[in-house]
Amino acid sequence: SDTVHPVIVAIDGPSGTGKSSTSRAVAAELGLSYLDTGAQYRAITWWMITNGIDVADAAAVADAAAKPAIVSGTDPAHPTITVDGVDASGPIRTQEVTAKVSAVSAVPEVRTRITGLQRSIAAAAPNGIVVEGRDIGTTVLPDADLKIFLTASPEARAARRAGELKGADVSATREALIKRDAADSTRTASPLAKAADAVEVDTTELTLQQVIECVVTLVAEKRAAA
Ligand code: DC
Repeated sequence: SDTVHPVIVAIDGPSGTGKSSTSRAVAAELGLSYLDTGAQYRAITWWMITNGIDVADAAAVADAAAKPAIVSGTDPAHPTITVDGVDASGPIRTQEVTAKVSAVSAVPEVRTRITGLQRSIAAAAPNGIVVEGRDIGTTVLPDADLKIFLTASPEARAARRAGELKGADVSATREALIKRDAADSTRTASPLAKAADAVEVDTTELTLQQVIECVVTLVAEKRAAA
């Protein structure tokens, strides 16, 4: 038929696999919305820190989980995130937030809250959406039209992250990244995992452009088959 239906694309994987760059570029190329779910977990973590909540105190984090207003802008050319109306795009990338986000995102009340936001954003996207995270294909959007699971060797991931953090030490970055992935993969509430029906793409030997082309082709194939 000549009617194009909204398409839901879930892109999961650990950090340093090129998830964000790939997801944004694919969304832009296909005219879809874009949602960075890691940014939402970072935003709620930043709110906990600025409100003096001890992130190691899961009960305190759970009690506060519903308080901050978190709003994500879904234009892939200009993704935004605000917390209680304040632009949080800078503060959510600090080392302190990065170090504390795994503890906050492991709290079930936080996941329930953020997952609800994610599902309403996806349902409201007129042409469809690319949603990137850790549990999108398994938990948030199990009926996604296409699920991608990006991987890369720990060395490649650490090198990419250190490159993004300009001047950061690669071995220290590698340690921090492995520690965060282990925490994200072993938590009980909706851990980082590959969905049974996800397409795994190992990006270790691929350029960003190649990964983008691969995902765009997979979306086109899905649409042709629908
Ligand atoms: O993608 P990122 O590094 O910005 O994600 C930050 C953290 O948020 C990550 O360490 C785990 C958590 N996260 C999550 O638990 N579930 C998601 N869907 C996305 C991120």
